[in-house]
This record gives sequence, structure tokens and C-alpha cells, in this order.
Amino acid sequence: MSGDCILGIETSCDETAAAVVRSGERLLSNVVSSQIAMHQPYGGVVPELASREHLRSIVPVVRQALVEAGESYQSVDAIAVTQGPGLAGALLVGISYAKALAFALKKPLISVNHLEGHIHAVLLEEKQKGNFKVDFPLLALVVSGGHTHLFLAEQREHGWVYENIGRTRDDAAGEAFDKVAKLLGLGYPGGPIIDALARHGDPRAVKFGPAQIKHRNRGTPKDQQTPYDFSFSGIKTAVLRYVELEDMRGSIAARQKALAAMPKSAVGDVLPHCDKKTLDLVASFQRAVVEDLVAKTLQAAREREARTLFVTGGVAANSELRQTFALEAAKEGLPVYFPSRKLSTDNAAMIAAAAYPKLLVRNFADAEFSAEASLPLR
Ligand code: KG4
Ligand code: ZN
Repeated sequence: MSGDCILGIETSCDETAAAVVRSGERLLSNVVSSQIAMHQPYGGVVPELASREHLRSIVPVVRQALVEAGESYQSVDAIAVTQGPGLAGALLVGISYAKALAFALKKPLISVNHLEGHIHAVLLEEKQKGNFKVDFPLLALVVSGGHTHLFLAEQREHGWVYENIGRTRDDAAGEAFDKVAKLLGLGYPGGPIIDALARHGDPRAVKFGPAQIKHRNRGTPKDQQTPYDFSFSGIKTAVLRYVELEDMRGSIAARQKALAAMPKSAVGDVLPHCDKKTLDLVASFQRAVVEDLVAKTLQAAREREARTLFVTGGVAANSELRQTFALEAAKEGLPVYFPSRKLSTDNAAMIAAAAYPKLLVRNFADAEFSAEASLPLR
């Protein structure tokens, strides 16, 4: 088939994913094999298990992505794979497989930064809708289980360039959702369940002060201050303190026991086991995190004169985050875009999409490249 078809492969965390994207704008297939059920009993991703599972799934997942796209190993023009950041062992599975495929098929191999992938997920879907006009500089909030970053992006002749103007000083926002959910006995991953439960609680019931959510620049010389940095470990501790103060341990243990008896607990199963206090706490926690993400991002957008805003990564699936961003950015006349929920969390379509500008300038990976757990985006 004509056009530049890229096979994308993503194995940075707990999803084995493959996808085919044509010319960075047409999603031909998007296969995601989630390991969530396997990691659920541990309340988080177990790296060793993740690598093994990637190894088991990678061949059938890639094959399915090609079949669904109506492509073959021979017909794709390039292979793209996530180099990092992520779990080293998990990344290595995707990289080794992609290298072997590229070598055997004599196709170019493109290495992609996972965070750049999250940004290009938004672009791919906008292009697919026919929206080709993006004004620069573009500000991207990449907010997921492992990351909370603000990138200012520009498009240059040789490709996209990024400036990391904000980051979390401790926990990522998604990590805070996951840890709070674990603490309250709500299951894993925490984001989707807190998102759904928060609708049933009062977000003003529990007050989280600025000290619990703000990264402080106090005492730092002015030229070294980082006004757009985040901090989410304080709010997690504040939730723990609230649980102890309000004597919620008993109800948490009861909920954990009830949910452990269910093989797979959906929101409908969890809700009957949540009292008002829990629902109010969850709603207040979510409101505090959302307000902080929105306020700092919009401050950065104003001060750095961004003309477009992308909000992406697993936490971008959050309903309240989307609503608040849409409302607040509109007040400032700033166009804001999100990926669909399917492309908010980890997938390989975003990797294939981010590889397209690199294919155009023949920016290929060399044979020696390897996984980089903390790969920075520049
Ligand atoms: O992007 P992603 O799939 O993986 C990483 O690169 O980390 O993000 C997963 C994270 C998890 O922490 C999960 O709890 C969070 O995204 N998440 C959400 C929602 N859906 C997923 N957080 C808040 N609200 C959601 N609806
Ligand atoms: Zn991710």
C-alpha cells in the first residue's frame, strides 16, 4: 500500500502494544494487550513479570496489528520502537524484537521517546480529524503513572524540539492516584476508579492546603526557581493522615476483603462498599490534583506565550481534568486538545506517529542503540 506506513512497537511498562500508522495521520490498527489483571494482586507493576509477559505477547500482538491494518511484515516502510523512559527490562523486549525485525526485513528502525509519543498521540488524532493547523509554540502537559512534565515544543526543519519547563519533584500525578486508591483499598490502577467514584462525592468536603500540593521555591535563588514544577507526595501523605484521624482503617479493611472476593471489580462493584466519607475524600483529592495541574499549566502557557495546549498521558483520560482544562483554557482563548481515551494511555499508535517526522528526515536508530530507563526528551 502507498504512503509511509510505520509499524510502531511499545513495551515500556505494562502494555504490550503494536500499531500501524500511515504518514503520521492515518491510524490503520492499534492493538494493546494489557497486563493490568496480572499486576492487580500486587497493587502495582512488577517489572520482572512485565518483561516476561511482553516476551509472551509481542509476536502475536505485532502480527495482529499487521493483519488488522491490511499490511504485512514486508509492506511496512519502517519500524518504530520506544527507547525510553520506562522499565529497562520491559523496554528491552520491544527493542530486541524491533531490531531483529528491522534487520531481517532490511527496514529502517526509528527509536522514539515514550513522552514524545504521548504528545504525538494528540497530533495523530487531530490530523485524522482533518485539523492540520497547529500553532507553535505548543505547550504539552504529559501526565501519566510515571511522568508529570511540561514541554514547550517547536517544529524545526530537522524535526520537533522540546524544552522541559516543568516536572514533578516526587510522585507523578498518576502515581498519586494509584497510591491513594491503594491506601483506600480501591484496587489498581487507581485513576479510572477514583475518576468514577469522585462523581459521587463532595470535592469541597476535605480541604487540602497549598502546603500539601505546591512545590515550594522558598529559599531558592530567583534564577534557579522552577515555577512550573509539581509535587504530589504531600497530598498522598495528607490523605493518609486524614484516614488515621477519621478512623477509616476498619472500613478500608472491610472493602479490601469484599473486593478481594471479586475476580475483577468494576466501579459498580466498588461503589456499594464506599461510605460518604470515602467518596468525599476521593472527590476532594481529585479536585486538588486537577486544580494544581490546570493552574500551573495555564500559568506556564501565559508566561511562555504558548499558542496551543496538548494534555496527554494516562491521567488525561480523567473526566474532571478534561472539563476543567476545557473551561479554563477557553477563558484565555487557548486551544486545548486531548487524545481520545484509548490513545491517552499507553499504546503504539503514538510511537508510530511520533516516528513519522523522523522518517521524513531519515533520522534512524543505529544498530547499537539500547533501552534508556530515564531517557530525557529534548
Ligand atoms: O500513560 P499510562 O498508560 O502509563 C504511563 O506511562 O504511566 O498512564 C497510566 C496512569 C496510571 O497511573 C492510571 O491510574 C492513570 O494513568 N489513569 C488515570 C485515569 N485513567 C488512567 N488517572 C486519572 N483518571 C483517569 N481516568
Ligand atoms: Zn505512558
